[in-house]
Amino acid sequence: EKGGFDHFMLKEIFEQPQTIFDSLRGRLDAVQQTITLSGVEKIADKLLAADRIIIVACGTSWHAGLLAEYVIEELCRINVEVEYASEFRYRNPIITDKDVIIAVSQSGETADTLVAIENAKKQGATIFGIVNVVGSSIARLSDAGAYTHAGPEIGVASTKAFTAQLAVLYLVALKVARIKGTIEDTLYDRLSADLAKVPEYVQQILDKQDMIIRAVAAKYSDARDFLYLGRGYNFPIALEGALKLKEISYIHAEGYPAAEMKHGPIALVDENLPVVFVATKDSYHEKIVSNIQEIKARKGKVIAVVSEGDSVVTDLADDVMTVPQIHEIIAPLLSVIPLQLLSYYIGVNRGLDVDKPRNLAKSVTVE
Ligand code: M6R
Repeated sequence: EKGGFDHFMLKEIFEQPQTIFDSLRGRLDAVQQTITLSGVEKIADKLLAADRIIIVACGTSWHAGLLAEYVIEELCRINVEVEYASEFRYRNPIITDKDVIIAVSQSGETADTLVAIENAKKQGATIFGIVNVVGSSIARLSDAGAYTHAGPEIGVASTKAFTAQLAVLYLVALKVARIKGTIEDTLYDRLSADLAKVPEYVQQILDKQDMIIRAVAAKYSDARDFLYLGRGYNFPIALEGALKLKEISYIHAEGYPAAEMKHGPIALVDENLPVVFVATKDSYHEKIVSNIQEIKARKGKVIAVVSEGDSVVTDLADDVMTVPQIHEIIAPLLSVIPLQLLSYYIGVNRGLDVDKPRNLAKSVTVE
């Protein structure tokens, strides 16, 4: 049932070209450049009238929500707040019938997310669910939604469900931007064309980088701590990379916005600290290059996720993991893949049960 893979996690990482394709299938028509999402169409009037969108989620799904904040604000010009469901539900937030809440959940059963939207619904908010498990509690409670179509995810650490969430959130953002008229045609065309290329690009990463990442993992499997840094669209990916490493390898890892490093975490840097930079070519590239130089000047070890052909970061870094060049808004769907593999191989090298890490459950149905 693991399809020849040693673990479900590795199988699920390798399924991503197909699962991302499945998330886009029947929705994104790359030739016509149209997006069909009946859930968005159903609440289009609410979305058009909304002053803000609140995204509620936990864990990896929260990271998908955080990236969606960057994307929706950029493309749709709607305020977005991203909330940890547990904090949101307990702090008596101000919610009105003009609010649209997006709940993101793989299982659709996470207790905090479920109660958060139950409360918001009672106060008149419209709930849009982005859920993987069909017919789950969050899916049933939602007024509208879009399933992620990643298929069953067995590994406790979320991989393919995360990229499916991102794929759907991109579609939602593009669709809403189109309805609101906040996106230029050229950008819309470029982003939908690039989104359609993602399954093929993810396959290329898996084919070309797997052996390289195994070797990188072997070098750093004994590290005690890791730092993950990224800026802009890649900041949520830094957080996700760190979470994945913690879960699978029990190595302490922290994700930070790269520029925040100077405000504290840089004190940790010495020759024993691997720092993972999510440094694909984007509008922040020069800035992240100088952040890398700052780490190197303090003898930190730099592992970087780079775009193909980036000789600047490649020369600076101790190790690189390469992804194809794509529009910066879509790039996180590629840059997360090497980080999933890195955590997996480090966990395996440490002899751990990567499919069922200690103390974790696949879905947290108690608060
Ligand atoms: O099923 P959900 O997406 O609501 O679950 C949320 C989190 O519990 C989940 O993402 C958790 O953080 C995973 N272990 C991450 O790998």
